Amino acid sequence: MRQTSKGKIVTKHKSITLLIGGGIAAYKCLELIRRLSDLGIQTTPVLTKAGTEFVTPLSVATLAGAQVHSDLFDLKNETEIGHIQLSRQSDLLVVAPATADLMAKAANGLANDLASTLLLATDKPVLMAPAMNVRMWEHAATRRNFKTLKDDGILFVGPGSGPMACGETGPGRMAEVEEIIGAIQEALLSKISSPKLTTGPLAGKSVLITAGPTHEPIDPVRYIANRSSGKQGFAIAQAAVDLGADVTLIAGPCALETPRGVTRIDVESALDMFEAATAQLPCDIAICTAAVADWRTQSLASQKMKKSDTGLPVLELTENPDILKTLSAHGPQRPSLVIGFAAETENIIEHARAKRETKQCDWIVANDVSAKGDVFGNDQTTIHIISDEDLITFENISKKEASNALLRRVVDMINPAQVAAQ
Ligand SMILES: Cc1cc2nc3c(=O)[nH]c(=O)nc-3n(C[C@H](O)[C@H](O)[C@H](O)COP(=O)(O)O)c2cc1C
Repeated sequence: MRQTSKGKIVTKHKSITLLIGGGIAAYKCLELIRRLSDLGIQTTPVLTKAGTEFVTPLSVATLAGAQVHSDLFDLKNETEIGHIQLSRQSDLLVVAPATADLMAKAANGLANDLASTLLLATDKPVLMAPAMNVRMWEHAATRRNFKTLKDDGILFVGPGSGPMACGETGPGRMAEVEEIIGAIQEALLSKISSPKLTTGPLAGKSVLITAGPTHEPIDPVRYIANRSSGKQGFAIAQAAVDLGADVTLIAGPCALETPRGVTRIDVESALDMFEAATAQLPCDIAICTAAVADWRTQSLASQKMKKSDTGLPVLELTENPDILKTLSAHGPQRPSLVIGFAAETENIIEHARAKRETKQCDWIVANDVSAKGDVFGNDQTTIHIISDEDLITFENISKKEASNALLRRVVDMINPAQVAAQ
């Protein structure tokens, strides 16, 4: 074992099989292979036919220091049943970029080339890094495939949100190399490298959690933000996974490590978060801890705004879509439990109760973010869980304890017998 520069521990002599699909982001795999090799992780590359249109087998083989596998019907390899060997020799299969096509094949059990056959034949954990145009990512078919793959225990890293090679902006960008490395390390080291927890009081439940702040761009260098650290949402995500839930965490910009076993989608603005959150429906439970900006600028300056003698610039604001309210009112796709968070600076309970009414969520968790409350970025908090029936306060506890307290109530609501038995 050794410590990396980022403080993570990597076990030496681990081996992964990297399946490179046919997308623009395939070029990032060259850097990924190089970084994995620095960490002592051996990569066996598999290039799909379409993948070879984007990176050459020669570059991949040179960086990996290993033969590139492409052909299912390769006589030399298949005398030893190569596709089974490739699975056996790896600790983890990584698909990057995971194209819409590869995801569709894997979700439906198709096996018509080496990569898809390998994905069907393996009993090793699989990590996918999706990369595609935003419309492809948001298409109902890809949503279905993503959900099926998650239900099957496939791990995901990304996609992120931002400008794409096709000129559009939104979710669908492949996660950055460092993020993929982090997810690989997690998968190789932690319990998520074993099959998904199928036990625990939240097993089989899909939980959507939003966390952190949002950044509302003003121009290419400036943005409107808030003081949310994301710590509470990340702690809830970890607690939910530990109870067996299938957790998707939609995170605004924050420098926190992804809790193990959680599918993380990084976003920047409230609009991105709205799109990413609604794309997760249907799900069983939604917990909205993110401090989403109420407003964004009406127009985004394409160049950095300059000081001028003609006076101060006027920022015209427009309202952002309301994620909590939208999830709470989502008709047949409404999660069976929607929990909002209310960060208040005065009349905490009164304002939180009013927010619950307006947003039509089931519970609201209020906390004091005034200078006195000092919750932002802190590890300690005081929370008030407000529902139709009651108000329960947990004073001066860690955010981890607050997460456990909240999720105990969730389990209690879903299955009262489970709590009694604990
Ligand atoms: C220039 C170009 C870029 C493409 N980029 C992507 C992409 O980023 N993601 C994706 O899912 N498909 C992308 N496609 C489409 C795939 O290449 C196509 O669906 C292919 O069949 C995928 O093969 P695979 O299953 O081997 O990955 C792109 C196609 C072209 C021509």
